[in-house]
Amino acid sequence: MPAFAELNADPQVMRYFPAVLDRQASDALAARIRDRLDTTQFGFWAVQITGVTDFAGFIGLSVPSFDAPFMPCVEIGWRLARPYWKMGYASEGARAALAYAFDTLRLPQVVAYTAAINTPSILVMQRLGMRHHASDDFGHPALPEGHPLRQHVLYRATPPFTR
Ligand SMILES: CC(C)(COP(=O)(O)OP(=O)(O)OC[C@H]1O[C@@H](n2cnc3c(N)ncnc32)[C@H](O)[C@@H]1OP(=O)(O)O)[C@@H](O)C(=O)NCCC(=O)NCCS
Repeated sequence: MPAFAELNADPQVMRYFPAVLDRQASDALAARIRDRLDTTQFGFWAVQITGVTDFAGFIGLSVPSFDAPFMPCVEIGWRLARPYWKMGYASEGARAALAYAFDTLRLPQVVAYTAAINTPSILVMQRLGMRHHASDDFGHPALPEGHPLRQHVLYRATPPFTR
């Protein structure tokens, strides 16, 4: 999907990830996301902004597969293309995803995590009213000690959740 590949190839969008994705890696990720959506009740959904664009990025729920003290869990994540930043779209979409997680899926908890230096993403977690305890923060096991993105913060949301 070209628009998805463009999103994942943008160095600004991928600034807080270890690397941008080339076309092959982006297509593989798209296939994994599609597979999850086909086989479970949730996943990363494409963000459509009525009258603006059919694809602004993705927001949604996912089950992470790395080892950490807070596993197993369902995480909420977001990635929007730059033209759609700073307009409240990420928070609006994430609120809808959390409402679905709690009202429809009846999940007891949803977490969000990101590199401790990813301020825009942390601000979304805070806007959503997710709670942070420093004792939950962790070093991402996929990144080596000393890597600038290794240190991660964890935020938690639990029901009842008010939109
Ligand atoms: C993380 C990310 C989704 C945040 O997007 P965002 O647009 O900053 O977040 P929001 O949708 O909550 O928008 C809030 C901003 O919109 C502004 N805004 C403008 N109009 C608004 C409106 N009508 N309603 C709400 N907010 C509005 C707010 O003031 C706020 O700006 P501020 O932070 O300067 O105060 C985006 O930076 C991104 O996609 N980054 C790359 C991917 C990434 O790092 N993902 C997370 C990895 S874990």
